[in-house]
Amino acid sequence: MSAKNPKVAVVGATGAVGREMLEVLAQRQFPASEIVPFASSRSAGGKVEYADGELTVLELKEDSFAGFDLALFSAGGSTSEKFAPLAAKAGCVVVDNSSAWRMDPTCPLVVPEVNPHDLEWHKGIIANPNCSTIQMVVALKPLHDEAKIKRIVVSTYQAVSGTGQKAIVELETQTARLMNGQEVIPQVYPYQIAFNCLPQIDVFMENGYTKEEMKMVNETKKIMGDDSIRVTATTVRVPVFYSHSESVNIETEEKLTVEDVRRILSQAPGIVVADYPEKKIYPMPIDAAGQDDVFVGRIREDESIDNGINLWIVSDNIRKGAALNAVQIGEELIRRNLLRVPK
Ligand code: A2P
Repeated sequence: MSAKNPKVAVVGATGAVGREMLEVLAQRQFPASEIVPFASSRSAGGKVEYADGELTVLELKEDSFAGFDLALFSAGGSTSEKFAPLAAKAGCVVVDNSSAWRMDPTCPLVVPEVNPHDLEWHKGIIANPNCSTIQMVVALKPLHDEAKIKRIVVSTYQAVSGTGQKAIVELETQTARLMNGQEVIPQVYPYQIAFNCLPQIDVFMENGYTKEEMKMVNETKKIMGDDSIRVTATTVRVPVFYSHSESVNIETEEKLTVEDVRRILSQAPGIVVADYPEKKIYPMPIDAAGQDDVFVGRIREDESIDNGINLWIVSDNIRKGAALNAVQIGEELIRRNLLRVPK
């Protein structure tokens, strides 16, 4: 092992995001000396796909991290709370996909296209933001840099894969059963998700918003490094397997025209502008699924205010929204020679 060819642990390797992490590591030829998949005792001894072969899953234990340089976690908040500090203590840098560490002031919350510099102050645990937040800030940061965003109003249309493998199975099963005239019993979500929309993602907070909505509010400010941006969100689960879609309205200090937005976003990293209304071309989840980019279309001036823009932003929530972003953080750590836990 070395900081340039790290030994990498993938924690939660049997889950929807963990499997994608393995795929992204292989596709991008991440320069690992070794990759080891971990999951719970339920999956220990099983196999997961990696490149053209398979890797054997190990049970995650307290002493699992000795000799590892980097751990990509996607095994839920409680696993991260317990095991991420143990990994960091063992000298292994953690990139954590759960919400456990995101708002911790000692942990950077990073989207490589937006705030890679925040990696410089990491202390061993780096948080990967919420999927719906990542795709939004990738598209909004270049506009903020140019015209200073004062307020964001976002409504989301989020795929079930964001909830994990069991939710993917629930949508498949419910759809098949309903098409065959059979009853469905919701297990993962509070109500039927097939042929339905649920205006609840995660639990409700005291202010009437859901936790997912407040993640978008708080994480956006932390990643953009600007507490003055006002953000309000409505997050909705829809019967789509992969890719979140978002209707985003921004109000800026300086005027932006539709042409300005197209030009700025076309030059920004990680973004594809797909905006030809005359040809009926706009981003859709079925096209974004399996892709790395954030797709932006339906760019319009908000005619109800002086400096407002409406956007439609779509991206694969499991890739850029989770696995890819985490792997990109790993690549950036290597590039900046930061793949070590500071003493
Ligand atoms: P397992 O398959 O053994 O339960 P998803 O988000 O798609 O549901 O995936 C969650 C991932 O987190 C799975 O790989 C799951 O492993 C893993 N996981 C859940 N609890 C633990 C735990 N206590 N220790 C290690 N991995 C865990």
